[in-house]
Amino acid sequence: MRAMVVKRYGAPEVFEVREVPDPQPKPGEVVIRVKAVGVNFADLLQRMGIYPGTPKPPFVPGFEVAGVVEKVAEGGKASDGEPLHVGDAVVALTQFNAYAEWVAVPAGRVYRLPAGMPFDDAAAIPVNYLTAYHSMFAMGNLQSGDRILIHGAAGGVGIAAVQLARARGLEIYGTAGPTKQEYLRKIGVDHAIDYEKNKFVDVVHKFAPDGIEMVMDAIGGKSFADSYKCLGPTGRLVVYGFSAAAGPDGKKSAMRGMRALLQTPRFHPLKLMARNISIIGVNLGRMPARGALLRGELDEIFKMYTAGKVKPIIGKSFPLADAASAHKYIHARKNIGKVILTVK
Ligand SMILES: NC(=O)c1ccc[n+]([C@@H]2O[C@H](COP(=O)([O-])OP(=O)(O)OC[C@H]3O[C@@H](n4cnc5c(N)ncnc54)[C@H](OP(=O)(O)O)[C@@H]3O)[C@@H](O)[C@H]2O)c1
Repeated sequence: MRAMVVKRYGAPEVFEVREVPDPQPKPGEVVIRVKAVGVNFADLLQRMGIYPGTPKPPFVPGFEVAGVVEKVAEGGKASDGEPLHVGDAVVALTQFNAYAEWVAVPAGRVYRLPAGMPFDDAAAIPVNYLTAYHSMFAMGNLQSGDRILIHGAAGGVGIAAVQLARARGLEIYGTAGPTKQEYLRKIGVDHAIDYEKNKFVDVVHKFAPDGIEMVMDAIGGKSFADSYKCLGPTGRLVVYGFSAAAGPDGKKSAMRGMRALLQTPRFHPLKLMARNISIIGVNLGRMPARGALLRGELDEIFKMYTAGKVKPIIGKSFPLADAASAHKYIHARKNIGKVILTVK
């Protein structure tokens, strides 16, 4: 089969199309013929060699695929406990190896698609919507009327969070670059913030002088400190990424990473107690023992999809062989919504 291999850590040009052996399922695994791959910001960091746990090159990156079950090994039961069958339309959370025509995945990380869900939509759902849903409702316990600030609100996780917030009746603050402001207003962000024009802390304090209930921050560095300032009593800061470490050229920069690390605040537990603030860390890839929890959350997301309450926005799709262009597109911050790779 063909796969997009990162031949060494570096800029998007390090991708190479290679013929590699077809994956064979081990007991408890299935092999999926991939139709669409969800591209995540984490993939960019893997390619650059700055994502924790990334294998040494050469390796195939990526965390999520949608496609059709082609082979089922003994014990190949889906996340719902039911056996998977050849021909089932599914989406799966992989541990790397997603940028390929075929992938072997433990069956417990495979989810059957609701009837009629296209593969493109399916590949755009698990990482973005689970991250947002898990942060906001499982960890964050947000209630109707609560106020949330979503950074990168026009990005993959960002739009998922906005849609979920709308569906649950939250008041939404959202940051994005200048060219994405109109779009934020269109999708129902109540307070669209252009971070080049305004400090988001000032905007939040203007409309919510006592502070808001949640900030979703995957920017990192100084942003974590400013996001913390937006919170009022019972406020929750969800820390789930560190985009500040990546630059527009896609090259690793020790200087940029170090600057962001040095600007990262330390939170004293006694101060958190005094202010009634929670800091919530979320890392979807580090919850292998919480499969049932994620399964329940994805069920709920699929129900919302079927009811028309959420719908992934595919910003742009690229052929698998053009993964480098997909990465360049995201590095240049051109994407509104999800970027996917399609496999013919
Ligand atoms: N912890 C988890 O489990 C988990 C899961 C999924 C994603 N994440 C994290 O969530 C963040 C968003 O992921 P995503 O896949 O949805 O990506 P994305 O938002 O679709 O793409 C990146 C967007 O982030 C904004 N951005 C801010 N700082 C940036 C920088 N230094 N370099 C490039 N872009 C920057 C840009 O929007 P503007 O033009 O509006 O600035 C850009 O369009 C990433 O940090 C990712 O690692 C974490």
